[in-house]
Amino acid sequence: GVVVGRRVGSRRKWKRVVRVLEELEEACETPVGRLRQVVDAMAVEMHAGLASEGGSKLKMLLTFVDHLPTGSEIGTYYALDLGGTNFRVLRIQLGGRRSSILSQDVERQPIPQHLMTSTSEDLFDFIASTLKQFVEKEESGSEPSPVRTRELGFTFSFPVKQSSLRSGILIKWTKGFAIEDMVGKEVVELLEAALVRSGLDMRVALLVNDTVGTLALGRYHDADTVAAVIIGTGTNACYLERADAIIKCQGLLTTSGYMVVNMEWGNFWSSHLPRTSYDIDLDSESPNPNDQGFEKMISGMYLGDIVRRVILRISLESDIFGPVSSRLSIPFILQTPLLAAMHEDDSPELKEVAKILKETLEISEVSLKVRKLVVRICDVVTCRAARLAAAGIVGILKKIGRDGSGAGGTGGRNRSDVKMKRTVVAIEGGLYTSYTMFRKYLHEALNEILGDVAQHVILQVTEDGSGIGGALLAASYSSYSVDGVK
Ligand code: GLC
Repeated sequence: GVVVGRRVGSRRKWKRVVRVLEELEEACETPVGRLRQVVDAMAVEMHAGLASEGGSKLKMLLTFVDHLPTGSEIGTYYALDLGGTNFRVLRIQLGGRRSSILSQDVERQPIPQHLMTSTSEDLFDFIASTLKQFVEKEESGSEPSPVRTRELGFTFSFPVKQSSLRSGILIKWTKGFAIEDMVGKEVVELLEAALVRSGLDMRVALLVNDTVGTLALGRYHDADTVAAVIIGTGTNACYLERADAIIKCQGLLTTSGYMVVNMEWGNFWSSHLPRTSYDIDLDSESPNPNDQGFEKMISGMYLGDIVRRVILRISLESDIFGPVSSRLSIPFILQTPLLAAMHEDDSPELKEVAKILKETLEISEVSLKVRKLVVRICDVVTCRAARLAAAGIVGILKKIGRDGSGAGGTGGRNRSDVKMKRTVVAIEGGLYTSYTMFRKYLHEALNEILGDVAQHVILQVTEDGSGIGGALLAASYSSYSVDGVK
């Protein structure tokens, strides 16, 4: 009797677990039809965000970048890249011929956690002193001090309302940063004040978003590059738009007729997005509820936390994870690299999964069946994220007439009649570059949505593009006397 009773109990337990899993799978489903709805919604919101200030959750921010590097840039430039988990300082020497970055030195540093929520002065003093040490190291042993002031491209990966190439105010923080005194402030002024305090002679040549830096490096290597996407701690995209399509800014004069637009797509929202109760809870418990909805389903800061929430729920409803671990209630404890490691564990016993469950979540002694369940949860969450990112990319292609639907004025009715231009999208961020399954799912979805057209679309990784691109833009604008816009 006892044995039978146990078995029945265990069956019931699994029934519940299976129900939770099935609900998750169903809520996260992204068949191609739904992805197409997301594509359309993205293109519609892009139009709305360009039409009027506040016209959409997509801010579609002006960058004042109206020409991109051509390859003829020359000289030595510095860049500072702030915005993700790491902060980078770098120096490049340009030789003046395409793809001839003569030398490039990069130094990465994790941002001390306390500085992300401290004061702007603390943050910028830390940055300025790191930069100063870097400059001293780079220049030691070389000829005496440079004749001209050093020029710096500042990549700052948060939403900024720019008023020129080198000025703009922080609209709000994203990705866990929360330095209240900085919201609404001129970002470059704060950096320059810290540079002065540190005694470093350096001029901030321009302020760019990381997506814009990535686009600049992509373009430097390949003239067919028209957009850039970041999928890292946060997610965002920018692209080259016709100036006359930026209706909200009438009479915008640019030297090229184009301007790079920073979409801030992390804040995109549409009723077509497949949302679960875990997403709703994550959002309402986050420091920025109702913001960055797309980002919270896609980017590295959040994916692990969605998985944590699913495991917590299962643990509360069954005993398959043993007694409920208190670790499961700690937000962001399961970081995305761990999620990737569990997802891609190819050992037959799923040893890596067991190890991470034990070390990070203090869940031990779970059966292989339970470990497989954990892998499945990672798969569902990552697959949805990658496919939504793919839909976002196609949304941009649609807006600029490169999705093969003929909207770009090619006039072709039949898809196969349309002569497709080669279209390169520069891409960066750990999810895409270091998480194989994520990348695979993203490519699969692109192929599903685009069909034959996918062969004309190339995703090109630009390593350290956000920073290097900032330096390239500093170089490319240093020969111009006006701030890009006259
Ligand atoms: C967040 C920021 C955005 C940045 C992105 C990727 O979404 O708001 O500016 O580009 O993260 O780093």
